[in-house]
Amino acid sequence: MKVSPVALGNLQVENNVFLAPMAGYTDYPFRKIALKQGYGLCFTELVSAKGLMYGGKNNDDLVFCGQDCDKTAIQIFGSDAYSMRWACESNYLKNCKIVDINMGCPVPKVFKNGDGSALLTDIKKAEYIIKECVKSNKIITVKIRTGQVHGDDVATDFCMMAEQCGAKLVTIHGRVREDYYSGEPDYNAIYKAKLSVKIPIIANGGIFTMEDANAMMDKTGADGVMLARGAIANPFLVSELTNQKPTCNLKDFIKEHIENVKSFYPERRGVLEFRKFVSYYLRGIRDVKQNKLDLYKCHDFDSVLSIIDQIL
Ligand SMILES: Cc1cc2nc3c(=O)[nH]c(=O)nc-3n(C[C@H](O)[C@H](O)[C@H](O)COP(=O)(O)O)c2cc1C
Repeated sequence: MKVSPVALGNLQVENNVFLAPMAGYTDYPFRKIALKQGYGLCFTELVSAKGLMYGGKNNDDLVFCGQDCDKTAIQIFGSDAYSMRWACESNYLKNCKIVDINMGCPVPKVFKNGDGSALLTDIKKAEYIIKECVKSNKIITVKIRTGQVHGDDVATDFCMMAEQCGAKLVTIHGRVREDYYSGEPDYNAIYKAKLSVKIPIIANGGIFTMEDANAMMDKTGADGVMLARGAIANPFLVSELTNQKPTCNLKDFIKEHIENVKSFYPERRGVLEFRKFVSYYLRGIRDVKQNKLDLYKCHDFDSVLSIIDQIL
């Protein structure tokens, strides 16, 4: 794919392959090692603006980005413009430059509150939220889907509105809410949206290989791509897409991921967080069914590491 820098207002990121926000996966330990493989920008998982306002207990962990503030967008969600702007201006986000607004989450708990993808049904409310967040002087980006049900296409209207409000980039997950994460992306909806604005448009959905990325770029004309599940299933896909040499092999990647997890979470929690990645990392490796089952039972890192050593 064609690799090029992306300008988010006056901040330029090195390349146009982004790591998606993924709740439960794109925490700091994973983002830190993923960034080393070459992403131009990565996103935290969605963080509740009201949760930040009312002092939720995991807030500091969720928004932590260490030395990677210039390459990390903190994704917030909510439908109350006051708390969304409050979150942008809060101490939690004082070191961060980029705030992404979630307008795509399909999960019922989020949708029923009028947050995430529910905002796609109310462009006026979405507009007000973006305008308020832009007043915080953070670089505001927005992540949307193409609509609620098949046949919907709100992407162009939302991208034009976001640009007019001062957002600096929009990511379009080319699926509607009822699709959740399956089905072919709606390339045409992304293509039309891209033509209608000057701000960068990043295309997302179903990119697991170089061919998928090329097809996405060719069919949509987007400025770049965002990898989600493909980023976990193949941690080196980003290096391939950006023509960079992977910094290590899979075993060393896994070990470094474990080191990051170890220094970020208490051991028991860390092992639980890491175990979620196991089936992705070991996909395609033969005869490891029993090893995987053993890994799911581990509660300490020494046992995890010794099983990884047996497999790789
Ligand atoms: C486990 C999981 C968690 C996700 N969490 C978020 C999230 O916090 N915020 C968000 O905007 N999208 C979230 N997404 C959606 C992804 O960012 C992405 O839009 C979607 O997975 C489509 O990309 P893919 O087909 O390459 O996986 C999540 C997806 C998955 C699979």
